[in-house]
Amino acid sequence: MTFDVTRVRAAYPALRDGYAYLDGAAGTQVPAPVIEAIADAYRAGIGNAGGAFPASGRSDAIVAECRRALADLTGAEPDGVILGPNMTTLTYRLAETLSRQWGPGDEVVVSRLDHDANVRPWVQAAARREAVVRWADVDVATAELPAGQYRDLISDRTRLVAVTAASNVVGTRPDVAAIAATAHAAGALCYVDGVHATPHVPVDIGALGADFYATSAYKWSGPHIGTVVASPALLETLKPDKLRPAPSGVPGRFERGTPGFADLAGVVAAVDHLASLASLGSLGSLGSGAGHRRERLLASMTAVEKYEGELFARLLAGLTAMEHVTSYGHAARRAPTAFFTVAGYSPREVAERLAARKVNVWSGDNYAWELTGALGLRESGGAVRAGLVHYNDEADVGRLLDAVAELALDGVR
Ligand SMILES: Cc1ncc(COP(=O)(O)O)c(C=O)c1O
Repeated sequence: MTFDVTRVRAAYPALRDGYAYLDGAAGTQVPAPVIEAIADAYRAGIGNAGGAFPASGRSDAIVAECRRALADLTGAEPDGVILGPNMTTLTYRLAETLSRQWGPGDEVVVSRLDHDANVRPWVQAAARREAVVRWADVDVATAELPAGQYRDLISDRTRLVAVTAASNVVGTRPDVAAIAATAHAAGALCYVDGVHATPHVPVDIGALGADFYATSAYKWSGPHIGTVVASPALLETLKPDKLRPAPSGVPGRFERGTPGFADLAGVVAAVDHLASLASLGSLGSLGSGAGHRRERLLASMTAVEKYEGELFARLLAGLTAMEHVTSYGHAARRAPTAFFTVAGYSPREVAERLAARKVNVWSGDNYAWELTGALGLRESGGAVRAGLVHYNDEADVGRLLDAVAELALDGVR
C-alpha cells in the first residue's frame, strides 16, 4: 500500500495557485473528478425527484447512489443516511426532533471539546424541555477529554450524550467507543460529531458506538453537503416536522425541500476519490467496483492517517522548537491539526502575515467556543489553526514553519 502525494495533488486544480493550503479544517479544495461529476450531472440534464421522465430518474439515481456512497464511507446502511446542507442544520433538526421525547429532569451531556454545532443545539433544546445539561470537561494542559468522567456524568436520567470524534482545533480524538458504551449502559443515545475526524481516519460507526454520526463533505474534498447517519430502525422511532406531501418514510422524512442534486453527484465522486487515495497494492484483488468501495475506503483512509500523522509530527516538532510559539493541545490520539499563538502578534495578524507568504491558515475560536474559553484564549482572539489533509506535503509544512519562524526575526513588538 503506497500513498503518492504527488499523484494526489495533481488531481486538485486549485493547488496550482501557489498557496500552501493549511486551512483544510475549514473546508478542503476539490479534485477534478468531483468538479466533473457536478458538471456532468448538469450536462446530462437533471429534474426534480420522482418524475416520469429520464432527467428526473437521473436525479433519483444520484440520491440513491449518494446514500450508498455515504453508507460505505461510514459503515452505515443507505436507508439510514440523511442528506442536508451541512452538519449544523442537520444537528439542529435532530435536536428539535429528539428533544420532543425529553421532559423536566431528563439530562443531556455535552463536552467542552466540541465545536459549538454539537453543543448549542442540545443546550437550547434541553432548555426548551427543562432538561438538565451536564458538561464533560477538558484537561486544559493536554486538551484530552477523559472518558472516565462520563461514568459520573451519565445516569438513568441521561437521554443523549453528544461528543466529537475529533476536535476541530486541537485535534484531540477522545475515546468515543468508551463514552458511547457508558451512554448505552444507561439507555442513552450517543450523537457523534464526525466532521473533523472523517477526513483523517477510517470511520466505522459500529465500532464507535455512534447512534448518530454527522459529517460534512466539504471537509473531505466534496461539495457543501452534510449528512447524519443512523440505523434506519432508530430513525423509524422519530417523527420530525415535515410538509404534508413530503416523503413520510425513512430517511426522506428528515430531509427538507429540494436538495442540490448535482452536488450530491459530487459527494459520490468525493467518496470515490477518498477510496482511491492509496494505490491498491496487495489489495488489488478487491477490485474497484462499488461493491468493494467500503474495503477500499478503509484501506485508503488507513494509509491517509499514517501519511498525515508522519507529516504532522514534523509540523509539530517545528512549531515546538520555536520559543516565540505556544502550542495548545497535546492529546495522545489526535487529528493533524495544530492550534498555536505567536508572541507579539494577534492570531489574525499571524494569519495575515502568513497569507502574505501564500500560506493559508485560520485564526480565531473556529467555533470551538467552550474550548477556547477553557484555554483562556477566547477574549484574546483565539489562536492560529494550521491543519493538514491528504493533499498537503512537506513543502507546505516547510513554508508554514519558515513563515512562522520569520515572525520571530521581525522581532517581538
Ligand atoms: C468539528 C466540527 N463540527 C461541526 C462543524 C459544523 O459543520 P457545518 O459547517 O457542516 O455545519 C464544523 C465546521 O467547521 C466542525 O469542524
